[in-house]
Amino acid sequence: MPYCVGLTGGIGCGKSSATDMFAALGAGVVDTDVISRELTGPGGAAIDAIRGEFGADYVLADGGLDRPRMRALVFADPDARRRLEAILHPLIRETSRRRIADSRSPYVLLVVPLLLETGSYRDLLNRVLVVDCDQAQQVERVKARSALTADEVRSIMNAQLPRAERLALADDVLRNDGDINHLRAQVERLHSRYLGEARPQS
Ligand SMILES: Nc1ncnc2c1ncn2[C@@H]1O[C@H](COP(=O)(O)OP(=O)(O)OP(=O)(O)O)[C@@H](O)[C@H]1O
Ligand SMILES: [Mg+2]
Repeated sequence: MPYCVGLTGGIGCGKSSATDMFAALGAGVVDTDVISRELTGPGGAAIDAIRGEFGADYVLADGGLDRPRMRALVFADPDARRRLEAILHPLIRETSRRRIADSRSPYVLLVVPLLLETGSYRDLLNRVLVVDCDQAQQVERVKARSALTADEVRSIMNAQLPRAERLALADDVLRNDGDINHLRAQVERLHSRYLGEARPQS
């Protein structure tokens, strides 16, 4: 298996920004959010199972998941959320594993927003990289980007691992507490290190 770094962090901390920077430098990227959308898009590998479990009402005419309808269901019904996750998680994990194995990049970044909450990707990873910023910055950045209120952002944050626990589980940390160039400089340093560590030792 290629050398693989798991990238995670709280909502709005800068995971996507950092991932784009690593990709521009030549890292391979496997993004579990992207895989999840593919699996539930038109013709996606999860659609038959979703139709079987929840009924044809949850599948749109184009063959993709009716996302707003499913979002409303799992928001109101924790058991439905568990049943959806029981369909999706094994498929996401297997697709991730295959894409990492097939990658021809010098190393791979596996992006998993809830990496440390689920714990189910550790066996694929050589290192865990956490993108970190303080809570006030998190709330500001997410609010600037979406229509969520500060309260809604905080309620998402409360469902995620507390910052201190996440940092305690990190091998490497990107401190995204400055401007974008501050983040880029740290990404460049880590990229060089990962290239060095990924090179087969002889
Ligand atoms: N250092 C920074 N300075 C200013 N803005 C930033 C910085 N880093 C990220 N941002 C902005 O903050 C917002 C959140 O960043 P980003 O989308 O990278 O976070 P994320 O961790 O991927 O969020 P999500 O959990 O929602 O996927 C974006 O609009 C991004 O452009
Ligand atoms: Mg993101």
